[in-house]
Amino acid sequence: MIVLGVESSCDETGLALYDTQKGLLAHALHSQIAMHQEYGGVVPELASRDHIRRTLPLLEQVFAESGVQREAIDAIAFTQGPGLAGALLVGASFANGLAMALNKPVIGVHHLEGHLLSPLLASNPPSFPFVALLVSGGHTQLMRVDGVGQYTLLGETLDDAAGEAFDKSAKLLGLPYPGGPAISQLAEQGNPDSFQFPRPMMHSKDFQFSFSGLKTAVLTAVKAQPEPLSDTVKADIARGFVDAIVEVLVHKCMKALKETGLQRLVIAGGVGANRQLRNALNTAAARRKYQVFYPELEFCTDNGAMIAFAGAMRLQSDPTLARSEYGFNV
Ligand code: KG4
Ligand code: ZN
Repeated sequence: MIVLGVESSCDETGLALYDTQKGLLAHALHSQIAMHQEYGGVVPELASRDHIRRTLPLLEQVFAESGVQREAIDAIAFTQGPGLAGALLVGASFANGLAMALNKPVIGVHHLEGHLLSPLLASNPPSFPFVALLVSGGHTQLMRVDGVGQYTLLGETLDDAAGEAFDKSAKLLGLPYPGGPAISQLAEQGNPDSFQFPRPMMHSKDFQFSFSGLKTAVLTAVKAQPEPLSDTVKADIARGFVDAIVEVLVHKCMKALKETGLQRLVIAGGVGANRQLRNALNTAAARRKYQVFYPELEFCTDNGAMIAFAGAMRLQSDPTLARSEYGFNV
């Protein structure tokens, strides 16, 4: 089965072709980061308009790269939500229009399921069951995953998502959007002993998270410094922030593995690209003989490959999911 995937939930347009026999055949991505950077965040209206501009050329690119004929695809998967309504509408309309023209079924994919299954695209994929930590710009969830479609939510953030905490704290330090990679890089030069930030809910008995207080602690630290902030202070605050958030995430992952009795941990979503988080997780897991799996770096952040893959997995497990009527819910 060959599935075309279309992702357009936020500021990345992603198209991909996934073959259940041969694997990923082609994927193409356009990131709007440069366009949104001058506004310090994603401007929804600009995002929607750019998705319109990019989708067709990227579609042509994946067909040209793979050599697959349009008629040879079996289904079209698109990101149904969650995401920016206008941006989602572009991908959904595009997928439904193409499906109608080619007379192919269409399937709406939950964006988070795309992220969640993306580590299965790697060359050494985990087998079920596993614990998954989903850390993106919009979500932070710990899940027990027993198979495709078999997800049990263990806990999630009560306020800001991990990626949001990275982005907002980075902004307070005057770093460009998206702040995650920037604050992570700056933290490498920081002194770990200069700023001690709180580890919110680290020792709560559940699997919930809370990151808004951490962001406020960064704000308080910034305000207490003489302006303008020196590069050294910026790096030290960045280090204090990254150490705090990483420690909470690692602690809750280890707790989830212990309490579920599972051995495998899967990390997904944009923050999964974070180097400090990966290092700390690898060390903590190795000590307890757990295995950790990550998506390929290019599939941590939004992309079409994960949507094509999740769509294919869903269709394989239940072919009746493919709809031939056209409509969608955001
Ligand atoms: O999964 P994603 O592309 O989009 C959503 O579905 O939200 O995640 C984007 C988030 C942003 O908050 C971005 O700052 C963060 O992932 N991110 C990182 C890194 N790379 C991306 N955060 C920390 N370190 C990184 N290296
Ligand atoms: Zn995402």
